[in-house]
Amino acid sequence: MEILGVIGNPISHSLSPKMHNAAFHAVRKQGIYIPLLVDENQLEQAINGAKALGFTGLNVTVPFKEKVIPYVTDLSEEAKAVRSVNTILFTQDAIIGHSTDGPGFEQAAKIELGLDFSGSNILLIGAGGAARGIANQLLKHDCTLYITNRTYSRAQKLVSDLVKNQGYEISIIKFAQNRLEQIIAAVDVIINTTSVGMKETIDQTPIPADLLHEKQTVIDIIYNPKESLLLKTAKEKGCRIQNGVGMLVWQAVKSWEFWWGVTPPSDVMYQAVKASLP
Ligand code: ATR
Repeated sequence: MEILGVIGNPISHSLSPKMHNAAFHAVRKQGIYIPLLVDENQLEQAINGAKALGFTGLNVTVPFKEKVIPYVTDLSEEAKAVRSVNTILFTQDAIIGHSTDGPGFEQAAKIELGLDFSGSNILLIGAGGAARGIANQLLKHDCTLYITNRTYSRAQKLVSDLVKNQGYEISIIKFAQNRLEQIIAAVDVIINTTSVGMKETIDQTPIPADLLHEKQTVIDIIYNPKESLLLKTAKEKGCRIQNGVGMLVWQAVKSWEFWWGVTPPSDVMYQAVKASLP
């Protein structure tokens, strides 16, 4: 029996157990995947405890993706580049941290929209953990990347970390300025990685959405609500849109590939997520 789980705080909202358990069932794999609420000051004990209990691996979610780094023994190239871990594999003598968020994001856009980011002009909104993974992935392609974030210094830090690692050039655009409005109208793809559009900001968009036009693709990594106000407005303007369900599913698919080198049924995982959303 394979035992896995997702550590986070809070964790009860996580759709990962539903997705992974549905995939185990579909392929008749003996496995169980559980939500694990962890206190921040017990993070190290939680990881070592899971290893001691014979867990195959873990997923890591908010707010621990960066915080687990001191407690793994090895980091994959991907995790090293983005300074974030969402997947852990336990071996006999190692705890390996990896990040599937960026590759999951790219795969979702490819599968759902047939999107290839090469040659595109892209505006990325946000500079948190999700933005790091996505920016690192986009920079594997020959694209022009603009980043904007409410806190300018955080965008600067993201850019300097990625450039240090990869030697690429990225432009940072200040929030709430005319230049941002020009960029919004000029780019091919806009990606929201902020939480604006969820819960108490459900009636807000992270950028002025009236500037969007039908030649653009707009991706929001929010999946609850299924259509954020940004996506709703983009759809009305005739843009192609994509929500965050695909990224959620494909980062999970890529976790399986990391744990076992096999690809789980993504259609079953999509169904499990969609059935759980309002
Ligand atoms: P995650 O790991 O999911 O990316 P995070 O690291 O907390 O989460 O990052 C959240 C992102 O949403 C950040 O870019 C944050 O901007 P700041 O760096 O200025 O905090 C952005 N964000 C959250 N609430 C926002 C709001 N009301 N307006 C604009 N940006 C917001």
